[in-house]
Amino acid sequence: MLLQDLSQRDWLGILNQSLLTPALLPVLLVNNGVSVERLTQLARMSLNLYEPYGRHILYKSPEIEVMLAKWSYRSAASPHNHGYSRGLIWFLKGDFNEQHFQFSKGQLNAVGAPVYFAEGDVATVVSSDIHSCSPVGEGISLHLYSPAIQEMKVWDLANKETLTVADECGAWVPQKSDLIIKRVKWE
Ligand SMILES: [Fe+2]
Repeated sequence: MLLQDLSQRDWLGILNQSLLTPALLPVLLVNNGVSVERLTQLARMSLNLYEPYGRHILYKSPEIEVMLAKWSYRSAASPHNHGYSRGLIWFLKGDFNEQHFQFSKGQLNAVGAPVYFAEGDVATVVSSDIHSCSPVGEGISLHLYSPAIQEMKVWDLANKETLTVADECGAWVPQKSDLIIKRVKWE
């Protein structure tokens, strides 16, 4: 299957059906010709050491964004939200941990213990949530968000700032300052 064939999938239909029952997502994807093997072939390494995963947009419209992430060994995303979007993450290769956070009064605090996802599991993304994912070793994950992600915030722990990042930026503190739309110091 060529990449342009992937843009012909009914991504929004697949996401809307699976939001009701997230465990259905892998089955619906395979039924639509989106296999683990094909996604593994398409996954791209990150080019920079500071980027925890290589980001490959498989499809994007205002309504939906489909992003394939190839995670470096034991890397971790920076804590982030998803703007106004909700969606699902399919951990198609490798096991992962997800940590939820809460930000208030200038402090970012972990909420509960990390949640473990075995290879093949699906996680739900809620727009108001702040989280971070990390692979136990290496990994590949497929992210479906609706609407397409806008105004994502990344929490920069080192500089105690919350950054609103450009739509083409992943869940990390960008090195290029033109990818930072807004910067708010923690009080
Ligand atoms: Fe995320």
